Amino acid sequence: MKALNEKEIKALVMASLDARSLAYTPYSHYKVGAALLTREGRILQGGNIENASYGATNCAERTVFFKAISEGERDFAAIAIAGGMEGEEPTDYAYPCGICRQVIKEFCRDDFQIIVVKNAKEYQLYTLEDLLPHGFGGESIR
Ligand code: THU
Repeated sequence: MKALNEKEIKALVMASLDARSLAYTPYSHYKVGAALLTREGRILQGGNIENASYGATNCAERTVFFKAISEGERDFAAIAIAGGMEGEEPTDYAYPCGICRQVIKEFCRDDFQIIVVKNAKEYQLYTLEDLLPHGFGGESIR
């Protein structure tokens, strides 16, 4: 897949920071925003959605993937993720949890880009393969 350009990276980083405002977090008060770029150039946003039964909580990454899939999107280029406490700018990088890495694996190839964001100027670029090496995918059971 062709590498993202600076403009695409910047737009995704800003959209992930902005998406933190969409999070529903009455329990942890930890707001995560995710911005997903399709290969056609559409950016979708999602936040984490918590539940009084904590295990029913949905991470921001899965929210944005499920939004996109349920709208018919299937080809993805990159996701940016930003997380931090409510009312503050993030103070650290928020890496995707293991379940979200596995959900990304379902829909993306190994070269899918994952941008882990601290702020508008500080972010790290990974591929899915970097964060989920030797992952389990559908090709194993078809
Ligand atoms: N969270 C995410 O949204 N993404 C992750 O990858 C890790 C954790 C959310 C879930 C929960 O609402 C809060 O962060 C604290 O775990």
